[in-house]
Amino acid sequence: MSVQQISPHAWSVGVKDPGLQYFDIVMRTEFGTTYNAYLVRGDEKTALIDTVKAEFAQEYLDNVSRVVPIESIDYLISNHTEPDHSGAYLPVLERNPGIEIICSGAAVPFVKSVLNREAKITPVKDDFTLDLGGATLVFKLTPYMHWPDTMMEFLVEDGVLFSCDGFAAHLCSDSLWADEVPEDVDHEVWYYYDCIMRPFAGYIRRNLPKLDAFDITMVAPSHGPLFRRAPRRYIERYKEWTVDKAAGRRFVPVFYASNYGNTEHLATALADRLSHHGFQTEIVNVVPLQPDRFKELLEQAQAIVIGTPTFNGDAVKPIWDFLNLISTVYMIGKKAAVFGSHGWGGEGAKLVSQRLTGLKLKVFETDLRARLIPSDDEMSSAMTFADQIAEFFG
Ligand code: FEO
Repeated sequence: MSVQQISPHAWSVGVKDPGLQYFDIVMRTEFGTTYNAYLVRGDEKTALIDTVKAEFAQEYLDNVSRVVPIESIDYLISNHTEPDHSGAYLPVLERNPGIEIICSGAAVPFVKSVLNREAKITPVKDDFTLDLGGATLVFKLTPYMHWPDTMMEFLVEDGVLFSCDGFAAHLCSDSLWADEVPEDVDHEVWYYYDCIMRPFAGYIRRNLPKLDAFDITMVAPSHGPLFRRAPRRYIERYKEWTVDKAAGRRFVPVFYASNYGNTEHLATALADRLSHHGFQTEIVNVVPLQPDRFKELLEQAQAIVIGTPTFNGDAVKPIWDFLNLISTVYMIGKKAAVFGSHGWGGEGAKLVSQRLTGLKLKVFETDLRARLIPSDDEMSSAMTFADQIAEFFG
C-alpha cells in the first residue's frame, strides 16, 4: 500500500495483505485485507497510530520512513494489541527505544507481553488530549471494539476519527477510499461486524455515544477503506445493529433436538406453560442449524431454554453446534434452563448446563430429565419445572 496523505496532518502508512484467506481463524476473507496504520505530524511532535502484522513489519517501516525518520517519532499509539496491529512494535522500538507508547490501561499488560522488554508506556483515559503542535488528538476508550484494550482517537483540526477495528471491513483495494472501491462496502462492513463485533454488542452500544461530540469528517479504521463521504454512516449503522433486541419483550425461545419425539414433547409442554406465565415463546428445532435465524432469536431472548436427548453419555452434535452460536452474539448474563429425555444416563442435560455456565449465562440450578416417553408424573414435574424457571427468569 503506497503512503498517502489523508488530511493536512495525517498519512496512511499501512500495508496490504491481499492473500489472506481467513482472519482470526473463523472469518473468511475472500478479498484479503489491509492493516491500516497512520502517522500524525504536528508542528512539534509526531505520533504513529498502530503498526501491522509482523510479517509486514519491514514494508511498514519503509512506509513510515518515507514521511519521517522512525528515530524522530515521539509517540506510538497502541489502539489495540491484537497481533495484526502490534506485530511491528518491537521493530519500531529497536529503531527508536525512547518512543513513548500511549495505550489504554487495559492494554498495558498486553503491550508488555508483546514487547517482553522495557519501554515507556503511558496509559490514558477518556478525553486524554495529546497536543502535537497544531494537531490535537483526543482519546476515547472503546472497550471490546474489539478487545478490552481498544481505544480510538480524534484528530480535532482535521476531523479524522482513527477508529481501530470499529467500522472496519476486510477489503484490499487499489483505492484508499470507500467511495472508490468496487466491492459492496455496506455488506463487507456488516460482515465484519457480524463476525468480529457482534459478540460484544452490549459493550459497543455503551461506547458509541462517546463519538457523538466529535465533528467527524473522516473515519479511518484499521482494516479496509476509509470513509470521507457520509463519514458517520457506519457509526449510525452500528447503533442500529447493537440495539438491545431483548428489551421489553419477555421472549423465551425453547430450542431442542429430538430423535424420537420425547424431548420435543417436553419442549412443547414447557413452552406452553411458560406462555401462561406471560412469556412470549417459540419452539425451535435446532435441526437443521440456521445460524442467522438462531443468532437473531438469541439476541431477542430474555432467557433461553434448551432441550437435548442423551446419546452415548453426551448431548447430541446438533445441540453442540447450536451452543457454538452462543458466543457469537452478546449473551453474557442472560438466563437459561436445560431439559432432556434420555434412555439410561441423562448426562446430556448436565453437560449442556455446564457449557452454558462456562459461557457466562445464569443457568437454573437443576435441569429437567425424563426417561424415554415422559410419564404423567414426569409431565407433572415438567410443569413444576416450568413454574420454577418462569420465576427464575423473572
Ligand atoms: Fe484488527 Fe482485533 O484486530
